[in-house]
Amino acid sequence: MLRVEQVSHAFRNAKESVPVLHDINLTVEKGTMVALLGSSGSGKSTLLNLMAGLMKPDQGKIWIADQDIVRLGENRLAEFRRSHIGFIFQSYELLSNLTVRENVELPLVFMGVSPSKRKTKALSLLEQVGLAPKAALFPSQLSGGQQQRVSIARSLITEPSVIFADEPTGNLDTETEEEIITILQRLNREMRTTFVIVTHEAEVAEQMQVVLTLQQGRLVRETVQQAGVKEK
Ligand SMILES: Nc1ncnc2c1ncn2[C@@H]1O[C@H](COP(=O)(O)OP(=O)(O)O)[C@@H](O)[C@H]1O
Ligand SMILES: [Mg+2]
Repeated sequence: MLRVEQVSHAFRNAKESVPVLHDINLTVEKGTMVALLGSSGSGKSTLLNLMAGLMKPDQGKIWIADQDIVRLGENRLAEFRRSHIGFIFQSYELLSNLTVRENVELPLVFMGVSPSKRKTKALSLLEQVGLAPKAALFPSQLSGGQQQRVSIARSLITEPSVIFADEPTGNLDTETEEEIITILQRLNREMRTTFVIVTHEAEVAEQMQVVLTLQQGRLVRETVQQAGVKEK
């Protein structure tokens, strides 16, 4: 489903090249929920952004649904990302001048789906995350946890092959964090959505089926926590 092969990456400034990821290899099976765990600066966001096609690695291959996304040109990559990849940001990234429902619909607007289809689908996803009654409100009228639930619904609306989330509970208190993790687990179970979730908290990672641990740009451990997930 998702495979990273011999990926290395460095950031360059005027003077030097700073290596950030070293020979990363990993496989994520369809329908699993994977945590990418590591301390601040270990390279989690960089790896996630590479896997989501937001950046190109210096070296290596990244396969999603049988396509090496590193090889895709800008236009085809944008199209591929729209139909195969979902993303959940720590800071939600909702548009403040659109209603909750319109935010959830937005990815389908870019795909040319008809308004009535978009609306039905958005309302059904808002139902799934417990926010149907808030559909007509604006993001600023919701709590942080509710805004993140909207962004989860938005990430699901194109039925992507995989959803990447960068510290999705990073701005939330512990109780709300638990709520969000529970929702993601239920969506993973019921819709068989594949999730890769970045966190620096071991307690969050332990609730995922697979934990990949990054240390100073190297993948140092892969722990499989539940039966039914294939070992590497
Ligand atoms: N755009 C960038 N330019 C230069 N260095 C960067 C950039 N993004 C990240 N880095 C560096 O790469 C390393 C890994 O960063 P990051 O992937 O954000 O780690 P994490 O998400 O685990 O905290 C850090 O040392 C960071 O300073
Ligand atoms: Mg980060």
